Amino acid sequence: MSRRPILAGNWKLNKGTPDEAATLAAEVVAAVAGTTHADVVLCVPYTVLSTVVATTDDSVVAVGAQDAFWKESGAYTGQVSPGMLKAVGVHYVILGHSETRGRYGVAEPDFTDVVLAHFGESDETVNRKTKAVLAQGLVPIVCIGETLSEREQGITDSVIDTQVRGALVGIDADAVSGLVLAYEPVWAIGTGKTCDAAEADRVCGVVRAAVAAFAGDDAATAVRIQYGGSMKPDNAAELLGMPNIDGGLIGGASLKAGDFAAIVAAAK
Ligand code: PGA
Repeated sequence: MSRRPILAGNWKLNKGTPDEAATLAAEVVAAVAGTTHADVVLCVPYTVLSTVVATTDDSVVAVGAQDAFWKESGAYTGQVSPGMLKAVGVHYVILGHSETRGRYGVAEPDFTDVVLAHFGESDETVNRKTKAVLAQGLVPIVCIGETLSEREQGITDSVIDTQVRGALVGIDADAVSGLVLAYEPVWAIGTGKTCDAAEADRVCGVVRAAVAAFAGDDAATAVRIQYGGSMKPDNAAELLGMPNIDGGLIGGASLKAGDFAAIVAAAK
């Protein structure tokens, strides 16, 4: 079975005002026009979801959010629910990104930011969010990945296995098939260090094996697994050519339409 590639830009805390978001989204729409070989997604700040939905209307680009809460309503100040996201035209939601798990690959310029940015995400909150996003018919992009210290301790595979299983608790095999999982080695995020393509493929194989053990072979064959972490035009083709890598979650390089489009083209 051949899986359809999915390339998602993660703008993080960038381009969150309407003018700059509309400009970049319009550039991306133009740069990826005519793409038929892959799904193309822009995951943008909440403030510009509606702007980017409008800008990408009638294009191949779909819109994603970067997080969502697991409750639909109530006394949860500051939270945004999957139903709210759906209502403004969102189709994908990144969940469990290492930056919301408080697992950073780089020391921030001000270390206080790292400590304060620990939003208390855990495998359990990721699981709750994944179920809530699925319940609205949206597609979760669930991030997993090991830190440098976990890699050096030789526990990468068990960390990945635990995170994948933790995210999937209580989700049936059909729903698992439709998920996107993003393998993002934390030490490769925003650092310019890319995981070697063969190793990235090997760990994506570990992710797929964890899905198979949890939800069966059909779900493992269908589920799409992205690589993320310093994916760029010059390394994308090699990474995306690997059998277990079905796309990319792209941070820095998604802020330039030309670079992002080059990565989308590399998935052909
Ligand atoms: P990066 O970010 O491409 O800037 O390394 C990827 C991500 O965090 O999703």
